[in-house]
Amino acid sequence: MSKAPVQIIMGSRSDWPAMQAALIPLKELGVEFEVSIVSAHRTPHRLVEFCKNSETNGTKVIIAGAGGAAHLAGMAASMTWLPVIACPMASKHLKGMDSLLSMAQMPKGVAVATQAIGEAGAYNAGLLASQILATSDPDLQKRLQTWRAKQTESVLESVE
Ligand code: RP5
Repeated sequence: MSKAPVQIIMGSRSDWPAMQAALIPLKELGVEFEVSIVSAHRTPHRLVEFCKNSETNGTKVIIAGAGGAAHLAGMAASMTWLPVIACPMASKHLKGMDSLLSMAQMPKGVAVATQAIGEAGAYNAGLLASQILATSDPDLQKRLQTWRAKQTESVLESVE
């Protein structure tokens, strides 16, 4: 069965309030996506299955959100050559610094594209996934250029 090109996974239902920001640019740009809960440590077999299937089921980019000792993105990236965008979630005790460092400090040889902590990072993950797809989709590229121009126009020069 063919899947949406952007697959969004997250370690817990508790990541969803922040992770749903990823959907905003994807929807605005008309990019198809699917969302599922896949935990590196609570559902490791689900993660292996997800990664095993991702290279042949139409997936083009994976967005992975997780908090704490956030190994979801790195583990996913270790099992597929597909690009993985990492979204560090704010954590209770360390406010997401743990998640950020877990994701940003990938040892060499396996890459993930780590975003900012929380909602802004999730939003940008949706945007970056769209940009990656746009490199091989001229229509999406046009939509992105229009989207960016609109964003630029929307920034007022004065506070009045
Ligand atoms: C991680 O642990 C999840 O990604 C989440 O950010 C964090 C806390 O999960 P819950 O205890 O809220 O399910 O696996």
